[in-house]
Amino acid sequence: MKALVLIGGFGTRLRPLTHTVPKQLIPIAGKPVLYHVLDLLPPGVEEVALATGYKAEMIDAYVRAHPPKCPVRTVPEAEPLGTGGGMKNAGGAMSDPFYLLNSDVIAAVDLAAVLAHHSERGGIGTMCLAEVADTRPYGVAALGPDDRITAFVEKPEPEQAPSHWINAGLAVWSRAALDAIPPGRAVSFEREVVPNLLPQGLYGFRLARYWEDAGTPERLLNAQRMLFDDGRGGRGTIPRGALGTGPVAAAPGTTAEGASFGKYVTLGAGVLVEPGAHVENSIVMDGARVQKDAFVSSSILGPRTRVHPGHRVVGQTLGEAAEI
Ligand code: GDD
Ligand code: MG
Repeated sequence: MKALVLIGGFGTRLRPLTHTVPKQLIPIAGKPVLYHVLDLLPPGVEEVALATGYKAEMIDAYVRAHPPKCPVRTVPEAEPLGTGGGMKNAGGAMSDPFYLLNSDVIAAVDLAAVLAHHSERGGIGTMCLAEVADTRPYGVAALGPDDRITAFVEKPEPEQAPSHWINAGLAVWSRAALDAIPPGRAVSFEREVVPNLLPQGLYGFRLARYWEDAGTPERLLNAQRMLFDDGRGGRGTIPRGALGTGPVAAAPGTTAEGASFGKYVTLGAGVLVEPGAHVENSIVMDGARVQKDAFVSSSILGPRTRVHPGHRVVGQTLGEAAEI
């Protein structure tokens, strides 16, 4: 079994941070979003092709420096090819069937069970579905008997959404799905290809526990909370000499003596949180500095950012090296 991971998006909803850091390398609950996605792959996956585009070199350098559990290979595209074009470009050596994963979704799912379901029911694919209240940012499925998907609409107007069950960005597809993608141009798999594949049998696999698309600051922080609550954020103890509850996932080389922490915090390498400062429900990336008596809540501080003494940062995303 092989896997294809789509990782070429621009991360526009996380700008300015994503001007320098691809969304998939933002650490949540102690490690980059991409690595939480790769953790979902069952043991024994032979190879993972990462279909990269935006910031492809950074992703390539990162996976070389931090090899994931399963062997990965990056397949960059010279210009953005969309989800379908990226699949076509990177899918040459895929197994039949293969796993298709978006690189920005955090979920509790047993992908081996999804594969077993797929083998039992047959058809061209099995798509994990999450139930959400607001379907507008997603692809929405209509379900028939045996959870066969009878219609699929990408980002419909609410009145046109056929259900509240959306494409979770985690699926098993047979290779025939790759053959259906037109070559040599940008293609949206969800808009242009999936609806045409329905006659060949696409089935839903309903997720029972948590799911989130980490594509906006609020959802990224929500995904971090879910991971910590599920014990996927490591031991979560606060740094030495600090006060408060945590959970905090701190990289080696963070200093936070005399600082305090609330729940759900990631601290990158070389972060300095000075005495009297407080951080909660936030991501503080490598080399950032939160100075004396500052207060940081529900925020994402990019690499080498600096929060000046006494400042309050609430609900903000700071791009690399920003000062406030
Ligand atoms: N290689 C490549 N090339 N990858 C791309 C490209 C591209 O041009 N564009 C986007 N991607 C990657 C992104 O990095 C992400 O991992 C995945 O494809 C989906 O792109 P997003 O931009 O995050 O799409 P979305 O969140 O609006 O919608 C998608 O995900 C939803 C679930 O989170 C769709 O698949 C929806 O149907 C789905 O509900
Ligand atoms: Mg997304």
